[in-house]
Amino acid sequence: MGEPDLSVSIGSLRLKNPVICASGEPTMTAGGMRAAIDAGAGAVIAKSTNESEAAARQLEVADYVLLDERWQPTAWDESAGPGASLLCRSGLVQVSLDEWLDTLVAVDRYARSAECLLAASLIVADLDATASMARKIEQAGLRWLEINISAPHGDEAAAGAITLERDAARVGEITRRVREAVSIPLSIKLTGQTDNVLALVGAARAAGADAVILTGRFLGFVPDLETRRPVLGTFGAMGGGWALPLTLRWIAKARQRFGAELPLIGTNGARSGEDVARFMLAGARAVQLCSVVMSEGYAALSRCERELREYLRRQGLASAERLIGEAADAALTYADAQRSGSGGRRWEAVTGQRPSRRRTRTRYSDEL
Ligand SMILES: Cc1cc2nc3c(=O)[nH]c(=O)nc-3n(C[C@H](O)[C@H](O)[C@H](O)COP(=O)(O)O)c2cc1C
Repeated sequence: MGEPDLSVSIGSLRLKNPVICASGEPTMTAGGMRAAIDAGAGAVIAKSTNESEAAARQLEVADYVLLDERWQPTAWDESAGPGASLLCRSGLVQVSLDEWLDTLVAVDRYARSAECLLAASLIVADLDATASMARKIEQAGLRWLEINISAPHGDEAAAGAITLERDAARVGEITRRVREAVSIPLSIKLTGQTDNVLALVGAARAAGADAVILTGRFLGFVPDLETRRPVLGTFGAMGGGWALPLTLRWIAKARQRFGAELPLIGTNGARSGEDVARFMLAGARAVQLCSVVMSEGYAALSRCERELREYLRRQGLASAERLIGEAADAALTYADAQRSGSGGRRWEAVTGQRPSRRRTRTRYSDEL
């Protein structure tokens, strides 16, 4: 078998591979975005911006800590490993939109020469301003616009600075306004901090989103045992490898509900090429990675691409697209699992432990 084909399509966009450098501190400067392109990313999402002074000012009080599996601070390098969690509060780009557009246009030229796609990203504060910035982005010649309405800090930031949208009607309204403003591909990044993720996906799609990104990170809180104060002084956005199955649940559910026609992009929890494959098996067409780029550097993107390629070779698969949704489409309902007799082992059989005397009086299934 020849080399596996890593290219994937997302609506009308074609990516040379599904490893995307996510919007965040790694894509906050021209140098950072170029480094992601040089590392071979299939696409790069520029750091988000908006018109809000308060959102930009928030970057001045940004802070970041990488925590190990025991919630202790750990080094910002590959020694942190896939078990590390990133706790932070971040802000938005601090330059004017015109200046930022000049940067994006120059980086986009560089991206084109490397067959990489660059997306501009906006976080909503005022919707009229978002629509007008979206128009400027299209007029500047950029090829892809992402709207992030999933910022975990939305609940904590200054009022009106950053929108964290949990209301389906409002998701529809935001998407429709931007859709009317531009005709370039439009992706909408949604929060997982709600139980109506699928309603948000449906609203974004019905209002004209070309792709949906699932899901933004969670807001967390970690007390420091020595000082007995919160780590970083307050609440913070939190992500880690532990988020992967929680995110994949929504990706797989969205795949089941909306089918293969809805392009899904994954984010939140991928740390390796194998994780990219897991996202794709759940239904994502591509995956945005941020934390691992912050801890390991841009080389993490090349590593993930290489690991995905090796995985496909081991599986004897000719293309990455072949993975998309396979596991989600094969997922049984609990009722089907019962009927087909798959699984269904008692706890004692799983662990090999004999039940305690107290336990023998009750059947575990009766306790559920
Ligand atoms: C420090 C930091 C800043 C971020 N800034 C943005 C942003 O400006 N816009 C955005 O859409 N997502 C932003 N994100 C979210 C990332 O794009 C990504 O979706 C998230 O970190 C989950 O992926 P991960 O598990 O690979 O980190 C940021 C994440 C981090 C850690």
